[in-house]
Amino acid sequence: MRGFVIKDLAHPSKIALSYDAPEPVPGKNQILVDVYSAGLNFFDILQSQGKYQHKPPLPFILGTEFAGRVAKDSPIPVGCPYKPGDRVFGAALGSFADKVAADWNGLLPLPDTVTFDQGAGLYITWPTSYEALVGRAELKAGEWILVTAAAGGVGIAAVQIAKALGARVIAAAGQDSKLDVAKRFGGADHVVNYSKAGWQNTVLEITKGKGVDVIYDPVGLINDSLKCIAWKGRALVIGFAGGKIEKVPMNLILLKNVSLVGLHWGAYRIHEPSRIPPVWKAILDLFASGKTQPVIYDQSFTLEKLADGLGAIERRETWGKAIVRVREDLTHEKARL
Ligand SMILES: NC(=O)c1ccc[n+]([C@@H]2O[C@H](COP(=O)([O-])OP(=O)(O)OC[C@H]3O[C@@H](n4cnc5c(N)ncnc54)[C@H](OP(=O)(O)O)[C@@H]3O)[C@@H](O)[C@H]2O)c1
Repeated sequence: MRGFVIKDLAHPSKIALSYDAPEPVPGKNQILVDVYSAGLNFFDILQSQGKYQHKPPLPFILGTEFAGRVAKDSPIPVGCPYKPGDRVFGAALGSFADKVAADWNGLLPLPDTVTFDQGAGLYITWPTSYEALVGRAELKAGEWILVTAAAGGVGIAAVQIAKALGARVIAAAGQDSKLDVAKRFGGADHVVNYSKAGWQNTVLEITKGKGVDVIYDPVGLINDSLKCIAWKGRALVIGFAGGKIEKVPMNLILLKNVSLVGLHWGAYRIHEPSRIPPVWKAILDLFASGKTQPVIYDQSFTLEKLADGLGAIERRETWGKAIVRVREDLTHEKARL
């Protein structure tokens, strides 16, 4: 099968697709999934070079997120609700390949209204943003929220979820084209470009001097954003896409009664597994209601061009969720026959 095999640690641009990659061998609670689309992440670039916290033994197949169908030759362990052909999405190492082995109890059924491309980018971004806004910041209808990197994977999900909750959303990004994305696909009420000095004044003008009740920050712009936070505001620490881990002067937290709130979705599996099903139910209900819709970068990449897709992420060109199309979904063609 085809697979992006990492035999020696290197940047993805230095690795060629293998056409004789080893077929995955399912473990005890695993099933085999034919991958249709796989999600691209910045951490894939780090992992292929051995610079990510999770360092699989060599050789391994790169890629974590995917959507696909349960393979015809998959074992079906006792208790597994899926059967061959079922549409599923989830996460397992080795998704940049024709087939991946995954624990069945970590997978979710892919709703008919969600495409494989959309499904490939859901598993990390949407629960992160939902739980941050609902479970951690307790965002309420009518409140102001500032979302940084608002056109990015987690950011655009946060914009849509905040709008669905009835909040007033100020989307912030580093490029005007990304502000358009946040408005067009996210429904943001206002936009600001944080590459322009003094952008916080625009936020204060928009909120009539009050500032925002919630900051959602996957970039590392907490210090900058605290200049336009409201009294008793909550600042959500989501990530450090900008590459630096900030140090926050604690007097800023004291002066405006600010709550600094962390969110690590991946750790819920260990610390709070009971919270995972209700979060997913709420997200799938939002999709079913039509209030939210996963946003996919308009350029999709083939497995052969995978490194180009990762390069686009590295160059900060992508918006929404960038994916690699592994197989064409012929469902619609079949329906027309
Ligand atoms: N806490 C959690 O549980 C959790 C879960 C998922 C992801 N995350 C983290 O959230 C962050 C964003 O993830 P994502 O999937 O949304 O990524 P993404 O789609 O690649 O978006 C990241 C955005 O960050 C902005 N950015 C600012 N400075 C940058 C820089 N120096 N290099 C690259 N991008 C920069 C860019 O938007 P502009 O060009 O508009 O500035 C970029 O589009 C990552 O750090 C990720 O690790 C955390």
